[in-house]
Amino acid sequence: MRRNELLTQFPTPFYLFDEEGFRGNIARLVEEFRTFWPEYTPAYSFKTNYTPAICAMALEEGCLAEVVSDMEYSLAKKLGCPDEKILYNGPFKGPLSRELFLGGGMLNLDSLDETRRICALAASHPERIFRVGVRINLDLGAGFVSRFGMSVDSRELRDAMEAIAACKNLRLAGLHCHIKAPRDPESWRRRAEVMIAAADRYIDGVPEYFSLGSGMVPGRYDQTAGEWADFKPSWHDFAEAFFGPFIARYGASAQRPRVFTEPGRALITRYVSLFAKVDSIKEVQDRFLATTDGSFQNMGEMCTMARVPVRVHPGGGETRYFDNLDIMGYTCLEQDVMFPAYAGPLAVGDIVEFPNVGGYSLVYKPQFMIPQCAMYALQADGSVRTLMRAETFDDVFAKFGI
Ligand SMILES: Cc1ncc(COP(=O)(O)O)c(C=O)c1O
Repeated sequence: MRRNELLTQFPTPFYLFDEEGFRGNIARLVEEFRTFWPEYTPAYSFKTNYTPAICAMALEEGCLAEVVSDMEYSLAKKLGCPDEKILYNGPFKGPLSRELFLGGGMLNLDSLDETRRICALAASHPERIFRVGVRINLDLGAGFVSRFGMSVDSRELRDAMEAIAACKNLRLAGLHCHIKAPRDPESWRRRAEVMIAAADRYIDGVPEYFSLGSGMVPGRYDQTAGEWADFKPSWHDFAEAFFGPFIARYGASAQRPRVFTEPGRALITRYVSLFAKVDSIKEVQDRFLATTDGSFQNMGEMCTMARVPVRVHPGGGETRYFDNLDIMGYTCLEQDVMFPAYAGPLAVGDIVEFPNVGGYSLVYKPQFMIPQCAMYALQADGSVRTLMRAETFDDVFAKFGI
């Protein structure tokens, strides 16, 4: 089956995943980054899009699993990922984080309270040696105070480091950070410098690992306009800036730290599209509106952050040309705008394709009004693989105990 046949044979709305593009993107990232730092590995951020088949592909491509909840940790384990290939981050960890810690996984501590609990856990197994990481709170001048990790100069961080040092069978193995902004290559250089300085201050010798979060957005979105319109750095630009401080500090070391980043958006965003059908078109007080069977709730944050180019697949209806039409979702919410100010041809029955909805989309979809739609992938042999079936009435209501 070809892509266009899919549109006529499968009921809308649905997501379409591009496996080849996704795998290729990871391969390019790894190739580019390892040219600068062979000890580099990406850790796929499960929460960004936790479709199990997609997570499994990321693992097959050599990614570690980056998880921030027991739910994601359980998924990683179900997919056969051993503890030592899992990074467990986040400000609120579930009880399974202790299992990961005892199993030799990488646990990055967010607070002094969590540090004390982990020290007590390590002390209750005096016969074994454990390792742990600590999250450093980053401020790269983006004008807000992040809630995550502990500040480099804070009393809390010093107390946490002392607690770890006082625990005979616990070793500080790595440092972690993540901040949502800024995201340009130069800020990644500063991120590396700040973290290396923190390691020099708190870790004797060379750390086992640095896990430096995410936020790299290479200019690979599909003609994205809006917030990222002029933002076009490549994986190469990021790698060149980011690894400079590592090469300067550890390039000549016999033992070099492993470096991880934790990409979510940058790996998956471009490789999922949403297809929705135009149900009606109308004019209300000079405002033209098309209502579709999809919703901004299927698209997630992308439709509020950037204007991606919609593609219209004609459905055979009577086409009109619009200068300024809002493409709306099915919900009873005024703010359900999937694409504002569309200009071009459109007809009832057309299928509108919204690209770049792989990140923070289906994982954010509430069970509001209409259950979640399916996700498919076109296989190389022309067959269609269902990565996620459509949600049913029972999926939504079984838990209520009528
Ligand atoms: C600790 C951590 N790592 C990685 C990510 C993934 O970020 P992104 O989806 O922007 O790539 C996040 C997102 O919030 C995060 O909190």
